[in-house]
Amino acid sequence: MTPLPAFHDDLEACRAEAWRLLREGARRNRAGFHTPALATIDGQGRPRVRTVVLREADPVAGTLRFHCDRRSGKAAEIAASGFAALHGYDPASKVQIRAGGPARLHTDDALADAAWEGSLAMSRVCYGTVPAPGSVVPTGGGYSLPEDAAAIAAGRANFAAVIVTVETLEFLYLDRRGHRRAGWTREGADWAGAWLVP
Ligand SMILES: Cc1cc2nc3c(=O)[nH]c(=O)nc-3n(C[C@H](O)[C@H](O)[C@H](O)COP(=O)(O)O)c2cc1C
Repeated sequence: MTPLPAFHDDLEACRAEAWRLLREGARRNRAGFHTPALATIDGQGRPRVRTVVLREADPVAGTLRFHCDRRSGKAAEIAASGFAALHGYDPASKVQIRAGGPARLHTDDALADAAWEGSLAMSRVCYGTVPAPGSVVPTGGGYSLPEDAAAIAAGRANFAAVIVTVETLEFLYLDRRGHRRAGWTREGADWAGAWLVP
């Protein structure tokens, strides 16, 4: 039988493991947490959820970054509510992570510029979609993507980097010898954590 992981009965190590997995998710496109689900609340107070690519996880700042089109539903919902949550489950590590808190769209600042500069050309193309994401079109292919460099560059106007400042973090590790669930809330520069019944 494989030994229990070192974090199994170590609350602080569980938090470190959560951030390690999130960082790995942002760095490697085959990692379990590369494509978490993003939850927002719409104008009617109803939950909406969809996949995003995790671009950065900063354990020191306690922030997560993803990118979206500022014309999209998620961008409008984040701008209106100011909050978002992310969720992922990695079958390889048998870990579920839930993270939520205030979310901010960066469109015209240095952070957005750096995120755009750091994006691959094939990612930038998506921001030049015409008409806007979510528009009703007469056929499935009734939209266009930019084809030349100038048109792709113009997509910068539609680009947003979103920073979620994690205020609540939850970790669930599945093991038949004993599941482990732990949660933390941000308290200034520190995190207050507790074991939870799975
Ligand atoms: C694997 C995968 C990765 C995706 N990554 C992103 C992303 O990083 N940003 C994004 O805005 N949409 C991404 N999408 C598309 C969204 O899930 C969603 O369908 C779309 O953005 C419309 O969402 P909205 O109308 O709620 O804004 C991704 C979808 C998949 C399947």
